[in-house]
Amino acid sequence: MDRGFLFGDSVYEVIPVYNNKPFRAEQHLTRLANSLAAIQLTTPLDNNNWHKIFAELIQQNGGGHQSIYLQCTRGFSPLRDFPFPNNIKPTIFAYSAPLHSKSVAELSQGISAITVKDIRWLRCDIKSTNLLANVLLRQQAVAQGAQEAILVRDGFAVEGSATNLFVVKKAKLITPVKNNLLLGGITREVVLELAAQQKITFVERAIKEKELSTADEIWLTSSNREIMPVMQLNTKPVGDGQAGPLWRKMIAAYQEFKQKL
Ligand code: PDD
Repeated sequence: MDRGFLFGDSVYEVIPVYNNKPFRAEQHLTRLANSLAAIQLTTPLDNNNWHKIFAELIQQNGGGHQSIYLQCTRGFSPLRDFPFPNNIKPTIFAYSAPLHSKSVAELSQGISAITVKDIRWLRCDIKSTNLLANVLLRQQAVAQGAQEAILVRDGFAVEGSATNLFVVKKAKLITPVKNNLLLGGITREVVLELAAQQKITFVERAIKEKELSTADEIWLTSSNREIMPVMQLNTKPVGDGQAGPLWRKMIAAYQEFKQKL
């Protein structure tokens, strides 16, 4: 009778761990706090206690590179009713699984993507476990032999089914502005920080669907899959159909940044 199960009344995070160390843990915890606040759920644990849970999961799973999943639901109630029950206690669920990050050589093989109509709700900024639309759209990509679906709303490309979107045009990096239509990815933030450090010109602005077909490079980013170059979009090559020069520069900077931490 948990509301996470019955209603998808819950939020989550996915945090990569490199050499026993959660990557960007503070940023993930801030986003978790924002998601919890957005669904009016009082944070069940403070950051210190979250860190203790992470440390225990990492240690009990043998350390190294892992991926932590954590979920907070509103909790369980014997009665299935839509409004929030009184005095309900949140349920916390967390696990850690081995993280098999791809090498730069593997990542440079790239992925294929398709464009699909974004059928999600208008609060995609909340990292909610209501992922049915994302699941169906990703499945559509897989059924067509692609690895990711790029979601298009009202003529604008917003993000992937579980990734953020970057486009390169004339050596300029473009990514959609953070708003209610997409998830503010932690990897997205790292990429923008690194772009500034690397003196790569970038802009946060809406991307027209049409711009995808004339892009020099398209990248999709997420905590577990890092920065993936899209080589094919709707079966047509992106740019010259190879991992582009800006992607190579960015992935090198990303690997170095991870190493330093
Ligand atoms: N998904 N957009 C959506 C819709 C996502 O679900 C995700 C991540 C991202 C990238 O965010 P980040 O860089 O913080 O991982 C963007 C996770 C990994 C998942 O559901 O498994």
